[in-house]
Amino acid sequence: FRTLDDADLQGRRALVRVDFNVPMQDGRVSDDTRLRAALPTIDKLRKGGAKVVLLAHFDRPKGKRVPEMSLKPVVEPLAKLVGAPVAFADDCVGGDAAKAVAALKDGDVLLLENVRFHAGEEKNDPEFARALAANGDLYVNDAFSAAHRAHASTEGLARLLPAYAGEQMRRELEALDAALGNPQRPVLGIVGGAKVSTKLDLLNNLVGKLDYLAIGGGMANTFRYAQGFEIGGSLCEKEMADTAREIIAKAQAGGCKLILPSDAVVAKDLAPGVPTRTVQLAKDGGVAADEKIFDVGPDTLAELLKAMAECRTLIWNGPLGVFEVQPFDKATVEAARQAASLAKAGKLVAVAGGGDTVAALNAAHAAGDFTFVSTAGGAFLEWMEGKELPGVAALAQK
Ligand code: 3PG
Repeated sequence: FRTLDDADLQGRRALVRVDFNVPMQDGRVSDDTRLRAALPTIDKLRKGGAKVVLLAHFDRPKGKRVPEMSLKPVVEPLAKLVGAPVAFADDCVGGDAAKAVAALKDGDVLLLENVRFHAGEEKNDPEFARALAANGDLYVNDAFSAAHRAHASTEGLARLLPAYAGEQMRRELEALDAALGNPQRPVLGIVGGAKVSTKLDLLNNLVGKLDYLAIGGGMANTFRYAQGFEIGGSLCEKEMADTAREIIAKAQAGGCKLILPSDAVVAKDLAPGVPTRTVQLAKDGGVAADEKIFDVGPDTLAELLKAMAECRTLIWNGPLGVFEVQPFDKATVEAARQAASLAKAGKLVAVAGGGDTVAALNAAHAAGDFTFVSTAGGAFLEWMEGKELPGVAALAQK
């Protein structure tokens, strides 16, 4: 695909799809990571003399104008980060948008209102895409994290205007390629999270590609249950036991070494500071009937850290335990810190993504030293599942 280095920018209207689906609290942006992620593209376009017209969605208004889902609260924090005024238009198509775009001088920035206020966006309606395209001379997709959606502003526009990958899109794709497409081996995956059912495709794809796969979080309970271990009252998807056994068999057949918990930190209830016990998982005994697993234990952590030290690449999605509640954050925090320090020392390419994962790395103060932390949630998962992302595919066709 083409990048901004290939584009003629001076005086041209660049229609830029960004992902400003940011956390908000009481109508204010509470985490500006995704705004910051858009800055390299915005800066490059401004320096090149383009008129920057930003397109984005916020939340899921389902084709209706929902005032609480306006992008207006993004304007002020974005302007501060850009270091220049950001204009705003109340609609992303039609007269208001056209007027606001016509008023732009070279280097100016304009944010258009939530594209999902129009039903044509999610339907990828060609007519709506053409109405969006009327405000641009070229299209830049900088929203990797929305690229799993085949919508008008993420996919349709790439067919109507000369299309380019923005800087964040380019960085995301390069990092993901370094982690899974064409990685330095051995490669370790860490996959956590509550349920096997939501990560089935991901696990199946990974066991075919990785040298080591560590499984933590609630989903590890299902794996151990499937092997006949006692898990007490822990979260478990019993109906997924056959599937878990199939994944184990596939890993064995393909030479992917699975790291499943051999011990666990358990408690009767989930609350900060509750009494805990560390137990060896066993087919007979181990976790008591009234106990629940909330983190992997020290032996499991040691095995994981040892594997990590032997690997050149790490791809991480999902926490190992209930990291939001201490002391069940321990394994996640220690693994994150070791990954960060190996990455900092240039010994490990460490890539992570997915909402909870990023929150966990931030809690461990480890995200800054990772080689790359994706801004994507759902798109990162779909990419880890080996799926083609429509927004990326549309760019690649150009
Ligand atoms: C995200 O927040 O992961 C993206 O912006 C996509 O949002 P969506 O799941 O509402 O399509």
